Amino acid sequence: MKNKPIGVFDSGLGGLTAVKELLKILPHEDIIYFGDTGRVPYGNRSRETITKYAQEDVSFLLSFDVKMIIAACGTVSSVVSDLGENLNIPFTGVVKPTAKAAAVATKNGKIGIIGTTATIKAAAYQNEIKRINNKIEVFSQDCPLFVPLVENGFLDNDPITLEVAKRYLSLFKEKGIDTLILGCTHYPIISSTISKVVGSHVKIIDSGKETASFAFKKLKANNLLNGKTNPGNCSFYVSDTIESFSKTANLFLGKTLNQTVKKINIDMQTFETDVTLK
Ligand code: DGL
Repeated sequence: MKNKPIGVFDSGLGGLTAVKELLKILPHEDIIYFGDTGRVPYGNRSRETITKYAQEDVSFLLSFDVKMIIAACGTVSSVVSDLGENLNIPFTGVVKPTAKAAAVATKNGKIGIIGTTATIKAAAYQNEIKRINNKIEVFSQDCPLFVPLVENGFLDNDPITLEVAKRYLSLFKEKGIDTLILGCTHYPIISSTISKVVGSHVKIIDSGKETASFAFKKLKANNLLNGKTNPGNCSFYVSDTIESFSKTANLFLGKTLNQTVKKINIDMQTFETDVTLK
């Protein structure tokens, strides 16, 4: 069991921000990543559709006999809160670890949350923070343009990204938050812009990072760390063109990985093509 890979999925590339952190803290583990790039974004879809997609993503990862699954997607974690319940392996989404980190971080008891429309509507982060400490005031804002901007390469230093961020984030200045949850795993890629707008005094909580560290603790507690000393293998699977994934993936990962990316048909769960990620 210990030697099996960890499965990670997201609607697209955002979950790679969690993989980046996993590679830092669990460099000897094997990782299978699935990005549902053919159906991204999930965040403006119905609960029924997001649930169906998430179940298919999990079932694809289970076909690799993984030892743990990480739903590195704020939307899935918020909307399909019972996703891991019937699995007989450890599972985590991003909501609980991230909400806990924010509740610990805030000094003035005012936390902002940004995410996709489905995430903010589901209110899972908000409820989890209130469950931890109901005196904390929570302010939330959906930012539906952030995922398409990031997926299309409008990143930090792009004036369009800055303008959109100003439009979405102005309310947090009025509310006086001291902590902001990036409730979508795509957002760390534009965290400098977000920080510039909300103010550098606001502590930014990255859901990918918090979830990776929670996954480490969970594997350790279940005695499931593989104990190897050589670098682990990462395998990447996507449901749309490999070329666009390859172009942006290294940016999300923060380093160049020479790995094979495979395209799958997520409806049929069959493989199509593969290419080396450069
Ligand atoms: N990374 C996903 C999330 O955390 C992107 C959402 C989407 O597909 O809309 O919510």
